[in-house]
Amino acid sequence: MGVLDQKTAIVTGSGGGIGRGIARALAKEGAAVAVIDVDAEAAERTAEEIREFGADALALPCDIRDRNAVDAAVNATVRRFDTVDILVNNAMAARTGVPIEHISDDDLELAFRTGPMATVYFMRACHPHLKDGGRVINLRSGSEIQGLPGYGSYISAKAAVGGITRAAAREWGQQGITVNAICPFALSEAAQAHFEARPYDLTAALSSLSIKRTGDTESDIGRAAVYLAGPDASFVTGCTIMIDGGGSFLG
Ligand SMILES: NC(=O)c1ccc[n+]([C@@H]2O[C@H](COP(=O)([O-])OP(=O)(O)OC[C@H]3O[C@@H](n4cnc5c(N)ncnc54)[C@H](O)[C@@H]3O)[C@@H](O)[C@H]2O)c1
Repeated sequence: MGVLDQKTAIVTGSGGGIGRGIARALAKEGAAVAVIDVDAEAAERTAEEIREFGADALALPCDIRDRNAVDAAVNATVRRFDTVDILVNNAMAARTGVPIEHISDDDLELAFRTGPMATVYFMRACHPHLKDGGRVINLRSGSEIQGLPGYGSYISAKAAVGGITRAAAREWGQQGITVNAICPFALSEAAQAHFEARPYDLTAALSSLSIKRTGDTESDIGRAAVYLAGPDASFVTGCTIMIDGGGSFLG
């Protein structure tokens, strides 16, 4: 018996990293999971892992920048599992290490199309199914608060994700849908590769944390998603939870 038995979740970018950790944590609480990723093999790997521990999962290759592909992925989820109860907008791609004066149109397009635009595509497509009890969880970033140099396109796109999270919380509250966000810090494969190439960045990142360790994609970030998706968070909406070892503080 899990707190998410009979629920269906869509988790974008769950072929790896934090998305995979969230997908595994939701599935361990009983949710059936649509594993969405542009990397078809990675999506199938996560889905297979989930099936191995006895939950249901469907791998759906999808480039979240393509609105028709997003609609098709949501329709495929509903065909297989009847509905969508939980939507986690996790996937995002961006070029970082770029001073603002060198940000290209392609950089902006990548960050905004994989960030706020894809988030809205999924929220829009899932809305008819989410009514009355639905949960949306969007991934933001502490770098928004810190204003990290070189992260201009990423930070501005993540700020837009924060905006849509608050607006949807207001609009959809009366429909029984909660909309919240997580700011994570966890050792995804991408973060690990970055830190292996630049060990001084890891030292700097850890020194800025109140709790001096990297987060775990499943036991730290995934469990926070279980809370927001579960019955204990039915009165929580428009909220951003920092699961980042005290790296940034809101308020
Ligand atoms: N890792 C951290 O500490 C950290 C910190 C702050 C915010 N975040 C946010 O958390 C989320 C997950 O981060 P992560 O480190 O696990 O990222 P990641 O890069 O490791 O994983 C992203 C996943 O999304 C998929 N993806 C990329 N582009 C896609 C597309 N166009 N369509 C579909 N799938 C696509 C990738 O294949 C990958 O599986 C992101 O939104 C990120 O901005 C992460």
